[in-house]
Amino acid sequence: MTHPPAVPKRVARVLAEALPYIQRFAGATFVIKYGGNAMVERELTRSFARDIVLLKCVGMNPVVVHGGGPQIGEWLTRIGKKSEFVGGMRVTDEETMEVVEMVLGGLVNKAIVSHINQAGGRAVGLTGKDGNLLTARKLLMPAEPTGGGGDADENGNSNDNGNGGMLDIGLVGEVAEVDTTLLDHLVAGDCIPVIAPIGFSPEGTGYNINSDLVAGKVAEAMRAAKLILLTNTPGLLDENGVTVSEMNLAEATAMRAAGTISGGMLPKVQCALDAVRGGVAAATIADGRVAHATLLEVFTEAGSGTMIRPG
Ligand SMILES: Nc1ncnc2c1ncn2[C@@H]1O[C@H](COP(=O)(O)OP(=O)(O)OP(=O)(O)O)[C@@H](O)[C@H]1O
Ligand SMILES: [Mg+2]
Repeated sequence: MTHPPAVPKRVARVLAEALPYIQRFAGATFVIKYGGNAMVERELTRSFARDIVLLKCVGMNPVVVHGGGPQIGEWLTRIGKKSEFVGGMRVTDEETMEVVEMVLGGLVNKAIVSHINQAGGRAVGLTGKDGNLLTARKLLMPAEPTGGGGDADENGNSNDNGNGGMLDIGLVGEVAEVDTTLLDHLVAGDCIPVIAPIGFSPEGTGYNINSDLVAGKVAEAMRAAKLILLTNTPGLLDENGVTVSEMNLAEATAMRAAGTISGGMLPKVQCALDAVRGGVAAATIADGRVAHATLLEVFTEAGSGTMIRPG
């Protein structure tokens, strides 16, 4: 049987082009945030898992942080609870928090761990509680300028409880501290950490943390070479729906003011800006619905989504 000559040549060229990246990133940490919206197709999750294992096999250290917004929403619907958001953050009462912990720490986390292990990796699933990985504190949200439904909780109660115009949206947290001790052990032991975005206060209260914020803080703490945020859009889109290839703080501020960035893209852009300003060498927002999106971000110069610049 003969092959058309063009095919093996192209394959060889692609493989050869990976060499400088493998050399440059040997031993480097990559934090990859896998958005809940990007993991809705099993085949995509499989290709994501294979990319992660490939990175590990060629000497890089991937750390996965995952979301699970749609999956939480689905389980809340099953128990007859409505999802409500303020500035891209899910309003989280105690019952919702139980669902968040079960769905993120259980179902979603273990599904990703299992996919990575089936692809030949050794993944270990964690929440912020394991090894005191993520210490959290309550996050108060700025009140939304127009009646976006952000001034009352799901029971209709006012949740501005004297916080100077800031909204208390329940058990929603932000990262106060990342303890990388356990992550360092896992990475050194050739394991791939898979982190569910749940943090805990020193008193043991669980907090639902937006997974982009967790990924950004973990990337900073691990001094990652790159933070890759995989989502369900081709990147950050401008007012015409065109993907922005690069963005800095001033441009992000202008886009936010114009209302072009909203919902779940708000914490995504913010955490990427914070990460690059906090010492992470590069951050990108890319399309997790594209097969092998992670490889494109690691093994090409420009990547395919939006590159976030510090200044
Ligand atoms: N300017 C923008 N460009 C692209 N998407 C935007 C923009 N403004 C708002 N969005 C919204 O942000 C969404 C992505 O954030 P979202 O939180 O929904 O997904 P995710 O973070 O990938 O998943 P999860 O929150 O489950 O981890 C997009 O699907 C889009 O609806
Ligand atoms: Mg999100």
